[in-house]
Amino acid sequence: MKVLIPGSFDPPTNGHIDVITRCSKVFDEVLVGVIVNPSKESLFSTDVRSEMLSEIFNKKKNINVKSFEGLLVDFAKKNNVNAIVKGLRAMTDFDYEFQMAQMNFNLADFETIFIPASPEYGYVSSSLVKEIHSYGGDVNELVPDNVLRRLKDD
Ligand code: PNS
Repeated sequence: MKVLIPGSFDPPTNGHIDVITRCSKVFDEVLVGVIVNPSKESLFSTDVRSEMLSEIFNKKKNINVKSFEGLLVDFAKKNNVNAIVKGLRAMTDFDYEFQMAQMNFNLADFETIFIPASPEYGYVSSSLVKEIHSYGGDVNELVPDNVLRRLKDD
């Protein structure tokens, strides 16, 4: 079974890495879909966000990274994925994710599978990483090394 994990990944966090890695043990193939223009203004370009993820997973044969524009279901169809996977950190994520899951099913019959975040990453989000880093706080424990390097170069 091939699944698609979509997101902005601006930047990828240890929470994202955990969900993607765990999925790669459950499913045959994982495609990580990096959205080209997230609705929020992005800190990193699409190329850099995709590059960081590709670097992290370059040794994992069943994880691939691609960027996409437009509707998620069109990208999912084009890449022959069987289902969409989303990580959920807390119930606060649920309402919006539930709505998107129902919409994606309504649009193109794609099922969404929810994976709970590991407890140690339940509070980690890209937006908090950016905020903490912008005020000079330490995000060392929240992101992989290659992301930390890019944040420091920024
Ligand atoms: O990491 P994010 O920002 O929560 O990811 C959101 C994402 C990329 C999964 C969502 O915005 C999305 O699917 N965008 C593609 C456009 C689309 O299909 N919109 C309708 C969703 S029902």
